[in-house]
Amino acid sequence: MTAKREQYARKAEGWTDAEYADARAYLDHRAELIATLGAPLRAGDEVLDLACGDGGLGEHLLARGLRYTGIDSEPAMVDAARRRLGDRATIGVGDLNAFVPEAPVAATTVFRAIYYANDRAAFFARVARFTERKLVFDLNPRQYPVADVVAELEEAGFGRVVLRPFFVPQTQRLPGPAVALAKTAERTGPLARLALRVRFTYLVAASRPTS
Ligand SMILES: C[S@@+](CC[C@H](N)C(=O)[O-])C[C@H]1O[C@@H](n2cnc3c(N)ncnc32)[C@H](O)[C@@H]1O
Repeated sequence: MTAKREQYARKAEGWTDAEYADARAYLDHRAELIATLGAPLRAGDEVLDLACGDGGLGEHLLARGLRYTGIDSEPAMVDAARRRLGDRATIGVGDLNAFVPEAPVAATTVFRAIYYANDRAAFFARVARFTERKLVFDLNPRQYPVADVVAELEEAGFGRVVLRPFFVPQTQRLPGPAVALAKTAERTGPLARLALRVRFTYLVAASRPTS
C-alpha cells in the first residue's frame, strides 16, 4: 500500500468531520452548486461521485432529492461511506481512471481528486461518454492552467463551461452571516478572481451543450 493510500485508510472513519471545519455549511454549498451551476439537475437525477471519500457530500445531494452513487479506490473509505449512507445510496470500490457505471448518469462529480486522473483529457473524454448533463469538480487555478482545462473539457464534448469561485472555507468555521457574505463574494467578478490568486478554488460545471 502506498503512503497516500495508507493515510486515506487511516483517516477514513470520520473523514468529513475532521476535514471540514463546518461540514454542513461547506458541503451544502457544494451540493447547491452541483445542482444549479451550468445545466440544472432535477429531483431523481443520478449523481456519480468519483473519489467520494466517506460519502459526506452524499448526505447533501440526497437531501436535495438527487440519487447518489459513490466510488472510491480506498476500501476503508467505501466502508465508511456505506456506514454513513446505508441503503440510501450505492457505494463501491473503483478507480476513477477506469470506472464506468452500468447505466449513464445525469452528473458526475470529482472533488479534491482531479489530480488522481493519470491523463486528465482522457479522463474527461471517458466521463463524457456516460455523463448526460454535466461534470462538476473543483479546480485550484494556482495549480492548473484554467484555459488548458477548459480546452480539454470542450474537446471532450462539454461545450458549456462555467467557473464559480468557491469561498466557503474548508478549515475555518464562520458565523452564519459571514457564510452568506462569502457566497455573495463569489459573484463579484474581478474581485473574486483577485482572491483566487492567493486562496480558494473554482467549482467547475462543464455541461453538454444540449442539456
Ligand atoms: C482528498 S480525498 C477527497 C474525498 C471527497 N471527495 C471530499 O471531497 O471530501 C481524496 C479521495 O480520493 C480517493 N482516491 C485516490 N485515488 C483515487 C483513484 N484513483 N480513484 C478513486 N478514488 C481515489 C481517496 O481514497 C480519497 O478518498
